[in-house]
This record gives sequence, structure tokens and C-alpha cells, in this order.
Amino acid sequence: MRDLLSIRDLTADEILTIIQRARWLKERRQKRESHRPLEGRTLGLIFEKASTRTRVSFEVGMFELGGMTVLLQGGGSQLGRGEPIRDTARVLGSYCDGLVIRTFGQDRAEELARYCERPVINGLTDHEHPCQVLADLMTVAEEYGDVRAVRYAWVGDGNNMAHSWIHAAAVLGLDLLLACPYGYDPDPRVLALAERDGRGRVAVVRVPAEAVRGRQVISTDVWASMGEEAEQKARERAFRGFCLDEALLAEAARDGIVLHCLPAHRGEEISEGALEGPQSRVWRQAENRLHAQKAVLEILLLMGAR
Ligand code: CP
Ligand code: NVA
Repeated sequence: MRDLLSIRDLTADEILTIIQRARWLKERRQKRESHRPLEGRTLGLIFEKASTRTRVSFEVGMFELGGMTVLLQGGGSQLGRGEPIRDTARVLGSYCDGLVIRTFGQDRAEELARYCERPVINGLTDHEHPCQVLADLMTVAEEYGDVRAVRYAWVGDGNNMAHSWIHAAAVLGLDLLLACPYGYDPDPRVLALAERDGRGRVAVVRVPAEAVRGRQVISTDVWASMGEEAEQKARERAFRGFCLDEALLAEAARDGIVLHCLPAHRGEEISEGALEGPQSRVWRQAENRLHAQKAVLEILLLMGAR
């Protein structure tokens, strides 16, 4: 692994190592033990979309590991005035030890990685959100021990989060059932790759209760992702019946948990009761972004060292 642009950049062993390392880092942090392997290193953050968790967890994570960050936001940099990503990549790669990018097209993150001599991490594109799914898997590991011993459901849009989950299922061999309204399926190429690999079991159904029934890990996400705000009303109509609420959750396994990457829209894709109820692990999941990313930073930045 040189870059983390997709969950597919990781092997199953690497994912399990990141989870294990993240749990170790979490424990050390809880004991307030200092651990600064990235002293003197710098992480560049390019954010062309809004963020709360991703930005802050990378900034805090890098600080705790002994390094520092530099933030470039679309509007405040020459990227916002049209400087090509490949030019930015070469320059930032000569200053920083690694980059995180949150942007629209996956091709933009890929171009950055192609031209940057340092590791590039996808902090969310329209196509994938690998760092989030690593934190989600860590949360599952904390709950059940073995991430491969439970069954997964996705309720909602076949979006970037769904894609990263499908890739994770294919790499780790997970059983994942997705319920998506007609017209909002995951990218067929992502599904085809999972089918080709044949390790996991991935399928799309139309009825949320069918996807959730008897399963442990129930995930959802907003109906309109960043960049799709104009489709909000049409999506509200299309996703009617896809709210993860207490009635739907009652179909899940009795020891099932609810995950949501946040931000959440209460009363749309998730009910207040499901988000705040006893089966929710959403706040722990959000905290785990910090630990999982610190594990990724340690591995990538030390491996990509000069
Ligand atoms: N889940 C997540 O990526 O949150 P932010 O958009 O706040 O970074
Ligand atoms: N699918 C959402 C995830 C936000 C973290 C989006 O892309 O806006």
C-alpha cells in the first residue's frame, strides 16, 4: 500500500492490521501515553468539500503522533483558481510527507496520487470513503471481535459509503446485503468487481426489511450527498420507506448495532430513536475515525519516508 484511494488498495491482512493497530493506539491514548512516531513530519490536507470529522480527526491525529498539518481549502488556494491538480501534486509532494484529499471525482484523487511523490489518502470522493469504513470496521471489531463473524446491511443510497463497504466486503469476504431504491443502486462496476472476486457475498434488494433481517451491522447514510443538494426533494420522494427507524431496526439481530458516518438528518434516513438508542454505536464510530486514521498515517507515512 502506497496510497489509500480505495479500500481496494488494502489487502485483508492490511485492513485487519490497521484495525488492530487502531485499537492499540486508542488504548494508549486512553492511558494518556505519548506516542510520537511522526515527529517532524507534515501532512497536507486538501479539502474541496465541507468536513467536520475527517478534517479534525486528521489534524488531531497528526498532532498526537508528533507531526503537523497544513490545510488547503478549495477557495483559499490556487486550486480554487484552476491550477491543475498535477502541478499542485508535485509541489506539495516536495513539501509534505503525505496528503489527504477530499474532493468530487475519484479521478482527481487518482491524479493527485499519480503526480505526488508521497502517499495520498482519500478523505472522501464522490466514489469512495475508505477512511470511514476502516473506522466502521474497527467499531464492529470492538463490538463483536471478528469482523468476518457478523452479517452486514446497508440501507439507502448506493453512494461513496456503499461503494467502500462493497469493496470491504469483497476484500475481507463479508456478507453484505444492500437495500437501495430503484435508480439509486451502487455503481455496477463496483458490484461487478465484488462478484468477480467471489470472496464476499454482496447483493442489492429493494426492501429495507429484507436487507436488515437477522443482521448485526446496520449502516445508513444521507440520501443526498455533498454535491447532490439540488436533488434533495427528488431523493426524499425516491427514498420514502428507507428510513432506518426503530421498526426497521426491530428486524435486525437482537444484538445488532446501528452505524451512520454522520452528518445525520434525523427523520430522513435515520430516526432520532435509532440514532440515539441503545443499539447505536454512531458516536463511538465517529471517535474511531481518529484512531483508525492514526493507524493509517503511521503505516503510510513511515513507509513512504524519505
Ligand atoms: N463522516 C465524515 O466524513 O464526516 P465529515 O464530512 O464531517 O468529515
Ligand atoms: N455520502 C456522504 C458522506 C458524508 C461523510 C457525502 O458524500 O456527502
